[in-house]
Amino acid sequence: MRFATILAAAGLALAQSPEYHGVATAKQIMAGIQKPAMDSLAAMNKAGGPKDEKEWALAEQQAAVLAETAQLLLMGSRPKDQDVWIKSSQKLNATAGDSVKAAQAKDLTAWQASLNGMGGACRSCHNVHRKKKDGTQ
Ligand code: HEC
Repeated sequence: MRFATILAAAGLALAQSPEYHGVATAKQIMAGIQKPAMDSLAAMNKAGGPKDEKEWALAEQQAAVLAETAQLLLMGSRPKDQDVWIKSSQKLNATAGDSVKAAQAKDLTAWQASLNGMGGACRSCHNVHRKKKDGTQ
């Protein structure tokens, strides 16, 4: 009986994910990942949308990276509140997920809508948490 309990406990420990150790600050995630990915998507959008297989694949990849890193914004000590920060990150995760699907389907209308949604998620967090250069919010 005791042996079974030990085995069960060991199984539980093995099933757990490795412990998360945050390294990058939110600012580094913004500058290193969010900005280049969004800039690349915005450039394709400005040109009328992804134009060939290669660009659709790039659009899918950039959106996937944004969806992934939106989750990093929710981890460790990064959240600056339990409201706007969480909702904006979740919205970015969801809209970037929509963008991945739209790129896979090469659905230009859905892809453009997803970009608007992603931009809205960036702005909703920045409106509250990103200080303007002159020191105001
Ligand atoms: C959950 C909140 C949140 C979301 C979502 C978010 N940001 Fe940010 N962003 C911040 C904060 C906070 C800062 C200010 C960081 C600092 O100066 O310490 C920032 C700063 C930035 C900066 C300036 C980085 C620098 O080097 O000073 C860029 C560029 C940026 N964000 C781009 C984006 C883009 C693009 C998106 C959407 C794809 C996005 N952010 C989504 C919170 C967010």
